[in-house]
Amino acid sequence: MNPFKEKGMPIEKQFRNWSELNTKPFNKDEVHPYTRCRGILMNGIEVEAAIFLHQFARHSNDIDVKRHIAMSRRIEQQQQKAVNWCIPGDQSILETTIGYEQVAVDLTAWMCQNEPDPYVKQVFDFGLLEDFDHLYRYANLLEMKQGIKAEKLVGKYTEIMPGRPTAEEHRHPFDDVRKSGNRKKMSVQTLMNVLTLVAGEQQTMNYYMNVGNTLEDSIGRGLYLEIGQIEEQHVTQYESLLDPSASWYEMLVMHEYNECYLYNSFMEQEVDTAAKKLWELHLSMELEHFRIACEMLKTYGKKDAEELLPAEFPKAITFESNVDYVREVLREQVEFTAQETEIVPKDTLKKDSLYAKTQGVLNAGGVPSEQVIKEHVKKQGKDYRYLLKGEHPVDRLKKAA
Ligand SMILES: [Fe+2]
Ligand SMILES: [Fe+2]
Ligand SMILES: [Fe+2]
Ligand SMILES: [Fe+2]
Repeated sequence: MNPFKEKGMPIEKQFRNWSELNTKPFNKDEVHPYTRCRGILMNGIEVEAAIFLHQFARHSNDIDVKRHIAMSRRIEQQQQKAVNWCIPGDQSILETTIGYEQVAVDLTAWMCQNEPDPYVKQVFDFGLLEDFDHLYRYANLLEMKQGIKAEKLVGKYTEIMPGRPTAEEHRHPFDDVRKSGNRKKMSVQTLMNVLTLVAGEQQTMNYYMNVGNTLEDSIGRGLYLEIGQIEEQHVTQYESLLDPSASWYEMLVMHEYNECYLYNSFMEQEVDTAAKKLWELHLSMELEHFRIACEMLKTYGKKDAEELLPAEFPKAITFESNVDYVREVLREQVEFTAQETEIVPKDTLKKDSLYAKTQGVLNAGGVPSEQVIKEHVKKQGKDYRYLLKGEHPVDRLKKAA
């Protein structure tokens, strides 16, 4: 598919009425785990589209530009509703949370294995082990509070066991900012990987911000606020990889290209008929957004989009099982942390590092992500894990701690 040539749906025809937007939710016991994941990710992509376009509008003093932006933004908002309303009301916040962390694990793991830039790959590997641990913490809370085993949600695709322990993920903000990329040297695969991950992590951050206080007990509330702060760190990390020199018009074109690329990727893999139809419909809308964005870049930014992006999409992002890969990274990198822009083994840090100081301040007085496991062990004699390939590959994480 060549997004520069393909004809999408005319923008004026893209409005849907309320009943068309009020999507029939999936059945939470029957939906494919990766259909749930694709929906969660595309919701994050549409949220980013809307928020980005609002920011763009606030930085433009041209009323025509603002009108074009308002038009596509209204459609992005409709798309967000159509996608996010696939989640049924009987899927609890905690169950949805398991879906969010499965997205983070399997999406990041795919990118690690399909990332041409070694520095960016290192950053992805680093983040991977952190979200992997979140899945474990939330899964323990889910079993304890609702008696539900998270393996029912993740299927036989994703393991659940400790990653880099969440308590150890709390770093100084200076240590979360990575080296920024240069669009002229960055491959399109890297650009798509980073844009996608920023939107996904940002939506996870938003979600925990908003739902974390709806839990009734103190442990659950504590877990969401603690992990919510890590998602803030993750957004900081991933967004810093982007090229900050891109103009608003260039960023617009990249966003729309990214949306076309993702809907096109997922349309091809989707096993759920209703979801597949939705991805197809949204792709035809995005192709038109992309055409309009290219025109705006030409008119107002005096640039050709063909100079920025190739006619052929990079390799399609795929949700698939990454059990062996995650275990390999666990074995090799669980003891890593970050120092300024670099990912380093923890034992190379000085005693008075920013990391050590931050850990001392934030973790004084107990850590919810540890309390949830202690509580689970107290009640059920052990922590909850879902292992597909034997015991934990890291000695110190073989037993609950
Ligand atoms: Fe969109
Ligand atoms: Fe996470
Ligand atoms: Fe994350
Ligand atoms: Fe769009």
